Amino acid sequence: MPLCPMRQMLDQARKRHYGVGAYNVNNMEQIQAIIGAAGETQSPVIIQASRGALEYTNLIYLKHLMAAAVEEHPELPIVLHLDHGPNLKLCQEAIGLGFTSVMIDGSIDYDTKTPEGKHPARSFEDNIRVTKEVVDYAHQFGVSVEGELGTLGGIEEDTHTDKVLLTEPAQVEEFCKRTGVDALALAIGTSHGAYKFKHEPILALDLISECRKRAPNTSFVMHGSSSVPQELIAEVNKYGGKMPGAMGVPISSIQEAVKRGIQKINVDTDGRLAVTAAIRKVFTEKPAEFDPRKYLGPARDSLQKLIASKMRDFGTAGHAGDYKPKSLRAMKNLYAKQAAPAQ
Ligand code: G3H
Ligand code: 13P
Ligand code: ZN
Repeated sequence: MPLCPMRQMLDQARKRHYGVGAYNVNNMEQIQAIIGAAGETQSPVIIQASRGALEYTNLIYLKHLMAAAVEEHPELPIVLHLDHGPNLKLCQEAIGLGFTSVMIDGSIDYDTKTPEGKHPARSFEDNIRVTKEVVDYAHQFGVSVEGELGTLGGIEEDTHTDKVLLTEPAQVEEFCKRTGVDALALAIGTSHGAYKFKHEPILALDLISECRKRAPNTSFVMHGSSSVPQELIAEVNKYGGKMPGAMGVPISSIQEAVKRGIQKINVDTDGRLAVTAAIRKVFTEKPAEFDPRKYLGPARDSLQKLIASKMRDFGTAGHAGDYKPKSLRAMKNLYAKQAAPAQ
């Protein structure tokens, strides 16, 4: 089975009212755990790599590790996605590596000569311009594109914008029409990382319903969707970690978000927590252990367990066999037909 276009995977999820997790990867154990969980639960899955992940693995390693996952599980629909693509150049590189989907994060101007983490927000018009540029390029290859409207907290909150900008529903229809994005990340009050809320989780879930009405044929994405399970935080802290006050998005809120129109659910932090808790445990309980397989193995097992439970919670489990992935060539032809002026 070929890799799946993200457009098709999310269209299916939208029709059948479930969410698909997009899990970040940086190394072999994470990839094996994610694909293992997808096989165990028979779920379609999005494996995503950030710019940082591509730099960390020197691009080529990640490409081949991802290809190995696809080869091991040819029966599963799998999307390879670039997470938070900063510009057209990196999106082009990811497409060259064989990714079937890219995100252009046009809400932030990553190309300005400002220190890391201090990039300014882009204007609506500028976001449309850079996003459309990527859509025009990617669709020629049948590759899907995710854009973003509004800014998240977390990595985006310490930019010059000074405040988190929730997605403006009134802009959604125009943005989707003018850019042609396949998926749109909405800012509803989540943020990246393990410290999403100070007191209690507050999310603008109504905003999803508002946006859904305005763009019924575009799939929506929720970034910053880690739940920061308190049992994992307790494990991390028990074995020498220091993560007081960590808090995430409850699973019930994610399920509500899916009901209201979210299809893609981005998860990175929870995976990091599962890996860290497992490794800390081995290091504390077996201080003489020095074979990396003896701590990376349990970390991989713990991550697979966590992701399999998310696949069940998001409603993804059991949907792997629902459809046959379209080829990128078929997607390319579909996009070309849509773009052609009506006769
Ligand atoms: O969106 C953020 C993801 O968690 C990726 O994080 O840039 O540290 O790889 P990263
Ligand atoms: P978390 O930090 O909540 O896992 O979010 C990850 C994410 O949005 C990746 O794009
Ligand atoms: Zn994100």
